[in-house]
Amino acid sequence: MAAAMAVLVVVVLVLGCCHGSTATMAEARWENAGPAGSKVVSSASLILLNDSHSQSLGAFCLDGSAPGYYVRPGSGANASRLLVHFLGGGWCWSVDDCAARSEGNIGSSSSWTTDGIPSTFSAGGIMDALESDYGNYTLLYVMYCDGSSYTSNASQPYAFNATKSLYFRGRRILQALTDHWATVYPSPPEVIVTGSSAGGLTVYLHLDAIAAAFPASTRVLGMVDAGFFLNHSNTNGVYAYGDSYAGVRALWGVDQTSFDSGCVQAHGSEFPACFFASEAFPHMATPVFVTNSAIDAWQMGNVLQVGCTIGVNSTGGCSAAQLASIAAWRGDFLEAINEVIEQARANPHQTGVFIDMCPVHTETCGPSWFGYTAQAASMAAAFRAWRAGTGESVWEDSSALPWEAGFNPTCAASPGGWC
Ligand SMILES: *[C@@H]1O[C@H](CO)[C@@H](O)[C@H](O)[C@H]1NC(C)=O
Ligand SMILES: *[C@@H]1O[C@H](CO)[C@@H](O)[C@H](O)[C@H]1NC(C)=O
Ligand SMILES: *[C@@H]1O[C@H](CO)[C@@H](O)[C@H](O)[C@H]1NC(C)=O
Ligand SMILES: *[C@@H]1O[C@H](CO)[C@@H](O)[C@H](O)[C@H]1NC(C)=O
Ligand SMILES: *[C@@H]1O[C@H](CO)[C@@H](O)[C@H](O)[C@H]1NC(C)=O
Ligand SMILES: *[C@@H]1O[C@H](CO)[C@@H](O)[C@H](O)[C@H]1NC(C)=O
Ligand SMILES: *[C@@H]1O[C@H](CO)[C@@H](O)[C@H](O)[C@H]1NC(C)=O
Repeated sequence: MAAAMAVLVVVVLVLGCCHGSTATMAEARWENAGPAGSKVVSSASLILLNDSHSQSLGAFCLDGSAPGYYVRPGSGANASRLLVHFLGGGWCWSVDDCAARSEGNIGSSSSWTTDGIPSTFSAGGIMDALESDYGNYTLLYVMYCDGSSYTSNASQPYAFNATKSLYFRGRRILQALTDHWATVYPSPPEVIVTGSSAGGLTVYLHLDAIAAAFPASTRVLGMVDAGFFLNHSNTNGVYAYGDSYAGVRALWGVDQTSFDSGCVQAHGSEFPACFFASEAFPHMATPVFVTNSAIDAWQMGNVLQVGCTIGVNSTGGCSAAQLASIAAWRGDFLEAINEVIEQARANPHQTGVFIDMCPVHTETCGPSWFGYTAQAASMAAAFRAWRAGTGESVWEDSSALPWEAGFNPTCAASPGGWC
């Protein structure tokens, strides 16, 4: 495989928090400038949902433009199978934050290139046309432009100023997508639904609704990457991430139709908690394979807000106290995701899980898909075995803390970028 140049881009988001303080959220992204990435994105064409049905649903990006996706046609016998990827990109937590987002590629379709996925985004790893088992599936690469993991549903646009309105219509965008696919792809033999980060959360929240677009004869599987976000306190005891969501929910117009109905019923008036993967997961009916790092880099920076960045092969600039916070996080994360692991053990055909300890965020869209190992299996090999129904379903790197036991050398493979 061609060497990938990993470029670390740090996007700083300002989080308006409910405790009267403003915390700085650093969002780390790795962009893959390697040739595998450019090859797979070049042949994709843009489909905008600008048809009358989508418009009558009120399915719009934040700026009111049409949502859409890229399609890279498959080839051979696998061309009728679909690989559907939901792009991530965090969330917008306030009016100003959402207004800023509405000017760019994750809030507006106005600058989406017509000749391939915008180069900011990667489509390697599980989507790699040459290396992946699913490389000959028809790829549908869904652009993220609602800022809410498809949970927003405000009926009226928000008047930001005299010339700009903001549309919070994620749930309607998802409806427009599934209605459209039901027409264009009426009976594919298989649909694998992937998503990373906020797109990974999308898979937890909406996989059953997506599966419902296809007939019972279609085998639908989820493969979710880095979407298990915890409502966990930061190192100052503040629930910064959960509080951001609680603070924006009214603006987004989150309602009972934002989430899976089983989760909403189970939570009653507390239904907004269905935004968290830990609450959504138990109600998922569609088989799903879960991947996540136990020390996910984005969650270290933005949920735990530990204030240092650990390297794939070093403790970076982290102090002993910060390393202790990360170690405690790992324990809490493993406890929270234990329900997934238990479900995978009890019902291997329904759930599979791969937990690694690479300090990265988004792991399935680059060489890391083939590289990172847990219990000597790569993610690609683990997912292949789970999908084939071998009965294997749990891969967990349960080795000691890397800075004590030694860093897993496979963590040096590139995660592949923003996907
Ligand atoms: C709708 O989107 C398609 C791309 O999917 C584009 O070719 C067409 O021009 C658009 N139509 C309108 C009316 O904007
Ligand atoms: C895709 O199909 C071509 C033949 O059509 C084959 O040569 C190639 O190996 C296939 N790719 C994968 C990843 O299976
Ligand atoms: C077809 O897809 C399967 C996985 O479903 C993969 O193992 C196989 O290599 C693919 N074949 C081609 C020719 O792409
Ligand atoms: C969104 O809100 C509208 C009313 O404003 C409602 O009709 C619709 O069912 C809601 N949910 C979805 C998924 O569109
Ligand atoms: C409205 O806000 C947008 C985005 O910040 C800005 O570009 C535009 O100039 C503003 N328009 C007015 C009339 O203030
Ligand atoms: C996050 O967890 C804290 C502590 O349990 C709780 O007080 C808060 O309501 C939760 N936030 C959300 C949005 O559910
Ligand atoms: C990790 O660091 C060790 C010791 O500093 C070094 O020997 C090893 O080559 C490094 N591995 C990678 C993959 O960079």
